[in-house]
Amino acid sequence: MSDQPEILVVNGPNLNRLGMREPEIYGTTTLADIEALCQNEAQKHGMTCRFMQSNIEGELTTAIHQAIDDKLAGIVINAGAYTHTSVALHDALAMVENMPVIEVHLSNIHQREEFRHHSYLSSVSTGVILGFGATSYRLAINAIADHI
Ligand code: DQA
Repeated sequence: MSDQPEILVVNGPNLNRLGMREPEIYGTTTLADIEALCQNEAQKHGMTCRFMQSNIEGELTTAIHQAIDDKLAGIVINAGAYTHTSVALHDALAMVENMPVIEVHLSNIHQREEFRHHSYLSSVSTGVILGFGATSYRLAINAIADHI
């Protein structure tokens, strides 16, 4: 295991389909591209990323528990549609102490349907970055690097 501070980058449902999923909204960048971008950005700050993607709410919840137990340096989370529905993810993030949590979205959820305007995660996140496509993730890694 490396001694570098580690950031959990966690992606929720349907984000494994990036590249072919509604490209007019989400662009053509794949999740693998985003993960490479995150790792590259983290390395610039002497940090490393742990990646996790799941379409299952409980698995995402468990990944947050693991990040807490492993005392990671921060969490970047795009919970996809669970952003707008998940009390379980809200409660998991509410347990996070001593590390920044950055909620990210590719799209500007406030310019979209009404049901996307509320996030269960924002009130338990350190900050929120949205609307910049894959750049949202790059900004989030930098926000964590600046914050710790
Ligand atoms: C998203 C926005 C959500 O509303 C949507 O359900 C997603 C992706 C985004 O990154 O823009 O799956 O989180």
